[in-house]
Amino acid sequence: MTQPEIISNTKIFVQETLKDAEGGHDWFHILRVYNNARHILSKETADTFIVELASLLHDIADSKFHKGNEEIGPQKAKAFLETQAVDPEVINHVVSIIENISYKGGHKSSDFHSIELDIVQDADRLDAIGAIGIARTFNFGGFKNNPLYDPEIPANPNQSKKEYKKSRSPTINHFYEKLLLLKDKMNTETAKEIATKRHEFMETFLDQFYKEWEGEL
Ligand code: ADP
Ligand code: NI
Repeated sequence: MTQPEIISNTKIFVQETLKDAEGGHDWFHILRVYNNARHILSKETADTFIVELASLLHDIADSKFHKGNEEIGPQKAKAFLETQAVDPEVINHVVSIIENISYKGGHKSSDFHSIELDIVQDADRLDAIGAIGIARTFNFGGFKNNPLYDPEIPANPNQSKKEYKKSRSPTINHFYEKLLLLKDKMNTETAKEIATKRHEFMETFLDQFYKEWEGEL
């Protein structure tokens, strides 16, 4: 099979697998991350095939939607890539990216590093901020039936991985626990520039949110 054929099969596989996914982690999230990754790739020297495969497969079975199981995503990706007769070295690299991409309160689980991981991670993080980031966050909060905001419950940006994963705190708190921290965590210059603009947009949104909360007309 050629690389374009494998990419095309991967898109079909991901779209089918995520057909009932939560709105912020659905096929369109994958497509935006894939497009972000291709944009960053155009400015960096990296393996295109690996970046494309990893961005398409990075949320194939997110642990949040699988009772906290962090192994099922990498396993599913590996099993699929084996059906496509992808080179084992490429499979290993893609699986390592999927294992290491996640934010989870900013806690790193291993020492694996590559420019391809940097790119896919930036592409995913860009989709967590700005207007889309705001929309995804409130969608997820609604999915969990969390409150929009509660002035009595302060945000905790220093949560442990465990606390972060089981957090039921108001959705506005997620901005301080994750979204507003992402701008300074971007790996590539390209993503840093885009993140600066999206970050400002979230600050404007929050200013307006509090004004309206206080009853400003
Ligand atoms: P990662 O996979 O990088 O650890 P997550 O999957 O936790 O990141 O988050 C992806 C997106 O899901 C977030 O950017 C946010 O939009 C939404 N999300 C995750 N956790 C929460 C939460 N506790 N409250 C609101 N939105 C959340
Ligand atoms: Ni993602």
